[in-house]
Amino acid sequence: MGTAVLVSGTGTNLEAILEAEVPVSVAAADRPCRGLVVAARDGVEAVLVDRAEYGGFSAAFDREGYTDALVDALESRGVDLVCMAGFGTILAGSFFAKFDGRVLNTHPSLLPAFRGWHAVRDALAAGATVTGCTVHVATAELDEGPILTQEVVEVRPDDDEASLHERIKAVERRLYPFTILLVRAAIARGAEPVTLARPPTEPGR
Ligand code: GAR
Repeated sequence: MGTAVLVSGTGTNLEAILEAEVPVSVAAADRPCRGLVVAARDGVEAVLVDRAEYGGFSAAFDREGYTDALVDALESRGVDLVCMAGFGTILAGSFFAKFDGRVLNTHPSLLPAFRGWHAVRDALAAGATVTGCTVHVATAELDEGPILTQEVVEVRPDDDEASLHERIKAVERRLYPFTILLVRAAIARGAEPVTLARPPTEPGR
């Protein structure tokens, strides 16, 4: 089983995944970042599929072209489980069709609360007294997809975005490797991928 970790930033979740001895075959990034250094340091192949070559962060970003290049990079390395760990590019739907039910993500809130890129800031702004983190199956809809594991983190009165995010990340670094190992074990036992988002709840049912 080929497992890839996608990174864009500091890569502390990748570090934790490697420390937990999850067999990672490749780490891929969308920009130069510490995550690539972490991978190389641990002898894991580190691949940069640089979005700068596809329009970067401009309105002309070629999302489909970028997604195809990333799919090629992963498929050519035999990847069949993709773990997004702070990956900062929204991929085209073709990615999720290709790795259907085999893309995981960790998100710094208790989904479905506070989707999006500013989950920690949004939880603070909403006056939440608890937040947390969620590992879920990623689908083409941002921060949707079946939830696998979650853990609560309290919000302290003196928290700012950085302090709260760091406490959430400390939990993610435990929860995400654990969840990846569970999913790998399920796949090894022949389990079918879990692909569908939860159906909308209907009142009275
Ligand atoms: C993590 O908190 C992860 O949940 C978040 O980026 C951080 C990555 O930290 N991802 C998102 O917000 C995606 N919506 P790391 O680079 O130190 O592993």
